[in-house]
Amino acid sequence: MTTPLKQLPAWKALEAHASSIKATHLRQLFADDPSRGERLTAEAEGIFLDYSKHRITDETLKLFLQLAEESGLREKLDAMFRGDKINITENRAVLHVALRAPKDAVIEFDGKNVVPEVHAVLDKMAAFADQLRSGKWLGYTEKPIRNIVNIGIGGSDLGPVMAYEALRHYSDRDLTFRFVSNVDGTDFHEATRDLDQEETLFIISSKTFTTLETMTNAHTARAWSLGKLKEHAAVARHFVAVSTNAQEVSKFGIDTANMFGFWDWVGGRYSMDSAIGLSTMIAIGPDHYRAMLAGFHSMDEHFRTTPFDKNLPFLMGALAIWYNDFFDAQTVAVLPYDQYLKRFPAYLQQLTMESNGKHVTLDGRVVDYQTGPIFWGEPGTNGQHSFYQLIHQGTKLIPCDFIGFFKSLNPIGRHHDLLMSNVFAQAEALAFGKTAEELKAENVADWLIPHKTFEGNRPSSVLLADHMTPATLGKLIALYEHSVFVQGAIWQIDSFDQWGVELGKVLAVRIIPELESAEEPALKHDSSTNALIRKYRAHRRPTA
Ligand code: F6P
Repeated sequence: MTTPLKQLPAWKALEAHASSIKATHLRQLFADDPSRGERLTAEAEGIFLDYSKHRITDETLKLFLQLAEESGLREKLDAMFRGDKINITENRAVLHVALRAPKDAVIEFDGKNVVPEVHAVLDKMAAFADQLRSGKWLGYTEKPIRNIVNIGIGGSDLGPVMAYEALRHYSDRDLTFRFVSNVDGTDFHEATRDLDQEETLFIISSKTFTTLETMTNAHTARAWSLGKLKEHAAVARHFVAVSTNAQEVSKFGIDTANMFGFWDWVGGRYSMDSAIGLSTMIAIGPDHYRAMLAGFHSMDEHFRTTPFDKNLPFLMGALAIWYNDFFDAQTVAVLPYDQYLKRFPAYLQQLTMESNGKHVTLDGRVVDYQTGPIFWGEPGTNGQHSFYQLIHQGTKLIPCDFIGFFKSLNPIGRHHDLLMSNVFAQAEALAFGKTAEELKAENVADWLIPHKTFEGNRPSSVLLADHMTPATLGKLIALYEHSVFVQGAIWQIDSFDQWGVELGKVLAVRIIPELESAEEPALKHDSSTNALIRKYRAHRRPTA
């Protein structure tokens, strides 16, 4: 049995250290060490991290390094890269790093090198993407495909949507991309209402090919297509699948020649660079897609080989634990100052919260500390005019990740300098605030001073890179993936299962016939659920 986390000497030392540091303001930490702003930074693979505006000292980092040691972080990391079955509750390896390994790498799983298979799928995706992009993939009526609709949910949607938005600059603007995830029929309707069936291809993306939402949307898509194309043979030209489940794919009617596979050892939320990225590859082309994979790989290598004191995922993971467990912070705000990253916070929500929203350790003990924080955010500067008030002057401590670029892909007038000035200003205001004395010196009326005072001492990281490229996106995602790994490994939890999503699915399946049956069903739920079902039945649109 592993030593419980709170009994580790480093954890205990961190507890004591946290209570001493809580009394120190960031203003003081900066005054004590004028080089702090340059010293507490790290850079790897073109990603620069300024972590100086955190409520930490060199001692904090030293204790986290000790915690890594006592937690066996290095061995856990090696076990993941080696393909050990570290997802113990599902008895699965966790090998998303193999998805971006170069052709000549050797990563063995069950005694077999998986890298050649990964590249065979990539080559098949590339051939398909090239055909579509060059207009050679024709629909059933011989018209070239112009519209690509990805149907998937969770990891089979959020990654593709986020990457499409993030890399729009690199995308083929003659093709239209849409994403359908919600089982709400409105999602499908609005995504397809202006599309022509003859020019539309659906990618049904589902690791399991059994997910209720995706399969419902896939059947609706087939009916929508055949509504115009009539012949069942049209499915072969208008539907492809991305899945690990060949049997279900062919049951649906998609030729497995038009299926792009991946593997059990790729978790849903770690799959955007597997065949699940097919829509991304069609949008940006195989060369850009490969550059994205190279970006992922370079961050994997940085994580695997760099000592933890200079290791970006480690530093970010340690900071997340620091506030979550020692400062009672409940959330982390992710604030990309780049419009192309507008879906990045939503993507990170699944990555972080489905991974680390766990309450028992690997050996089944209920934890007596906090695990995964809530991730949320919006692109800057929009958030500044809505929720930043609470971050600056509310009663909650919300560590922030600011993400910005030196160069804009759309350099229009002064826009980029204005945008970036806000990154620096917000991080500065959060850390240093504005004191009553400063307000007095500005002749602010006494009664207004409490309202206008900014306490400061609110922590943030600033991440900077040159400009948004496919490779940069890969690095950023891998950075967060591995930061999540660091947190989960230290919390001693299984970051790679997701049992918490199951109960709701089972109950929904039980409720469906209770909503749809012509006869009044005998309801056996609690009184609230029974009453809600009765009310819905009384008001729902009668079936035609
Ligand atoms: O319900 C959660 C989940 O299993 C996610 O982990 C996954 O990304 C999503 O559903 C979609 O699953 P699939 O790709 O099998 O349709």
